[in-house]
Amino acid sequence: MKTKPDVNLLKNFISEQDISQTEPFVVQALRKLLDKSGAGSEFTGWVNLPSDLLKNKTLLSQIIQVQKRVEKINPDTIVVIGIGGSYLGTKAIYDALSPVFPNAGKPQLVFAGHQLDSSYHKQLIDFLRNRNPVVIAISKSGTTTEPAIAFRIIRALMEEKYGENASSRIIAVTDAQKGALRSLAKNKGYESFIIPDDIGGRFSVLSPVGLLPIALCGFSIEQLIKGAAVAEKELTQNSILQTNAAMLYAAIRNILHKKGKTVELLVTFHPQLTTLSEWWKQLFGESEGKNSKGIFPASLVYSTDLHSLGQFVQDGLRIFFETFISVGKPLFDVTIPVLGSDDDGLLYLEGKNMSYVNQKACEATQLAHVDGNVPVFSLNMDEINEFSLGELLYFFEFSCALSAYLLGVNPFDQPGVEAYKQNMYRLLGKPGF
Ligand code: PA5
Repeated sequence: MKTKPDVNLLKNFISEQDISQTEPFVVQALRKLLDKSGAGSEFTGWVNLPSDLLKNKTLLSQIIQVQKRVEKINPDTIVVIGIGGSYLGTKAIYDALSPVFPNAGKPQLVFAGHQLDSSYHKQLIDFLRNRNPVVIAISKSGTTTEPAIAFRIIRALMEEKYGENASSRIIAVTDAQKGALRSLAKNKGYESFIIPDDIGGRFSVLSPVGLLPIALCGFSIEQLIKGAAVAEKELTQNSILQTNAAMLYAAIRNILHKKGKTVELLVTFHPQLTTLSEWWKQLFGESEGKNSKGIFPASLVYSTDLHSLGQFVQDGLRIFFETFISVGKPLFDVTIPVLGSDDDGLLYLEGKNMSYVNQKACEATQLAHVDGNVPVFSLNMDEINEFSLGELLYFFEFSCALSAYLLGVNPFDQPGVEAYKQNMYRLLGKPGF
């Protein structure tokens, strides 16, 4: 993998003995995952998905065909309707790869049904009236309330705008057989893709759930999958903790958790990775937070948050450890203008790149936090592109499964999500509740 783990700043917190005591349990967790003998093993189809997709290119070709058909429509907007694992991975990749200020050329990706806010959806509908959109409705179950309502609203708009031709602008990604979205796709003749039975929502970013919208936005899904396949090879074929980055990360999390660090902060000095952290929070939070167990996953973006929650991290309740995502080469750089003057106190920095200052801010923060009793683990990416994101996404999925097994929970279910749904159905008067 091009992305490398860095444990140098953990020395004060984790001993060789901690690692050697944890190692057999991590090896056992790895076995459980790979032998499919652990809890929820029927949902481990994502483990070999990258290599499967490269071996049998049917799905990738289907997506490219749809991409070519959609290109003829020349959409300026792709609407992804979905919630949780059905949208976060797509948004993470899109935000990481897209320019901060939208430019012409590539369609803009917008989201719906990831919450129930009426103001958002009213404004989205008004926005879409004057756009040339293609809609992707994504739901594994095909029955989730938030995306179902959004889809109904957007479908009505598309039918009003395009009449019978609306169907050619709508694509469904859902279960092969079950759910209302599958029936709608059949009845209305929407093009559709299948979310495999053995891949759960938050592990589905490298299935059509993430690949289709990312391809329609003009990014290389082949590179994404190639990156993930490199990670798959490295993490599934090596059971030595010191050289298997996912085993190492899972072990570190477990050891720190046992030492009272109950909150993990995923932090970065690169704001384009903000949504990646959101995806990561869902992945780890929904996979580990059950049976009164779990490490609470939170995220911060530095240096912005150093001027907000930084005080708490440095000096407040000592419950944190940090995982930094660093990026070697930024997409762009800016030189601090050489003015030969110190009227703004910046003479000592003139001619330096802003990325250099950001890097030093990162190093300074890490040292300060270690001094403040916050263990620091780092993942160093060389740059942000489709390949490195594919690697990272797969790395986190794999580490998450190992971590959950170490914690003694099923990584692949989410029984707690039902509680609010049951209450909501009852309050809304849904038949049968
Ligand atoms: O990880 C999961 O399974 C969940 O977060 C789902 O992705 C989320 O609840 C959306 O479900 P669905 O895709 O069935 O609409």
